[in-house]
Amino acid sequence: MEKFIVNGQRKISGKISAQGSKNGALPILSACVLTNSKVVLHNCPRLSDVYAAIKILEKLGCKALWQEDTLIVDSSGVNNYSIPDDLMREMRSSIVFLGALIGRMGLAEFSAPGGCEIGLRPIDLHVKVMEALGVNIANDNGRITASVKDGLKSCNFVFQFPSVGATENAILAACVSKGTTVLENCAREPEISDLADFLNSCGARIKGAGEGTIVIEGVEGLHGTEYSIIPDRIVASTLLSAATITGGEIEITNIVPSHMRPIIPVFLEMGCKVSVGESWISLKSKDVLNRLKHIVTMPYPGFPTDAQAPIMAVTTIANGTSLFTENIFECRFKHVPELIRFGANIKVEGRMAVVEGVNRLHPATVSAPDLRGGAALIIAALAADGTSEITGITHIDRGYEKIESVLTSIGADVRRK
Ligand code: EPZ
Repeated sequence: MEKFIVNGQRKISGKISAQGSKNGALPILSACVLTNSKVVLHNCPRLSDVYAAIKILEKLGCKALWQEDTLIVDSSGVNNYSIPDDLMREMRSSIVFLGALIGRMGLAEFSAPGGCEIGLRPIDLHVKVMEALGVNIANDNGRITASVKDGLKSCNFVFQFPSVGATENAILAACVSKGTTVLENCAREPEISDLADFLNSCGARIKGAGEGTIVIEGVEGLHGTEYSIIPDRIVASTLLSAATITGGEIEITNIVPSHMRPIIPVFLEMGCKVSVGESWISLKSKDVLNRLKHIVTMPYPGFPTDAQAPIMAVTTIANGTSLFTENIFECRFKHVPELIRFGANIKVEGRMAVVEGVNRLHPATVSAPDLRGGAALIIAALAADGTSEITGITHIDRGYEKIESVLTSIGADVRRK
């Protein structure tokens, strides 16, 4: 089992380019199923979740080829609508293939994604909007079959909750349905706009993505395109956290500054100096960090739940008490017991976590509980006064591309063993 060995107390200092967005790439890879020819995807991150999505594409009859960080997908040969259980288990967000498969084949078969480390992850909102679009969904002991008899129909639908994945599935199915669909109370994450921009470049007619209401005029079918995936705002936030906890400084290039708007005020509150340019962000930390009064995770443009764990790790050595409320996932504090092994002082009460800053963290041997919780452990290990070990790093590889070489290239000492 691979692990990270981290020698702490080294200041992060340097310039790094942000990787392509995992949560942008996954729905766009699914959207390739809707196209009838070649798609050239630039800035596609090399992550285990992306490799899992490519395995699903190949299972469905697509061809995929890497050229550096460009991925070429040819979906002209799509001839299957069933996703095998092992691939669904490998990546639960494969549920986002539902809308594209239904749009292309009129059929989709897959196992219920089931829960994961951070929560139960139900799919009721996906089912509701699919049914509104005319899809019949049957669940036979966890094996789900979706079908449309006489084609997808447009609808007016209001989401009870702005679910990212359910919004993505609705867009994927509606863009090749008959008529005009109006979706309200949609998720507004930048990855939604990225998916809509990709689909529009393939000939779809989607308006309002990134806002609460999205209007989609269905078209016959979609053609290929050449597209560049947006940068990963959560990886950028994690790198800012690394510079902050080590009292260092960093410049991150190839980002979309507006995507960082919900996160920047948090670093300012901790006392960092932050400047933002056309496509870069720079941060200079300070020796003693201010605590964070209250971080509340919310749907975009609120503070992102995916940035909660790495930022909490930073506050373990801030001056004072920081408060976190996790509103999005019911089980997203699994990094807390592992942070306590570094000497952090954190108490969890339901959806709230109270962090009392300590003077310093000591090295520890810890295990990554999930993707962002694992990133939080790296952040803590960077500040610990000695050598720490982090196991369970397959979680981290799902969303961070070569994180050990990225951090080492800007002054840290992180080795994969
Ligand atoms: C996406 O997950 C992201 N994953 C998550 O990132 C991110 O944390 C989340 O959006 C919120 O921003 C991908 O894009 C692949 P949701 P998703 O549907 O689509 C409940 C990471 O670390 N819900 O907006 O699954 C759900 O249980 C990952 O990169 C229902 O109740 O998020 C959760 O409590 C983690 N019924 C809340 O809504 C449903 O049908 C938000 O889920 C669907 C969701």
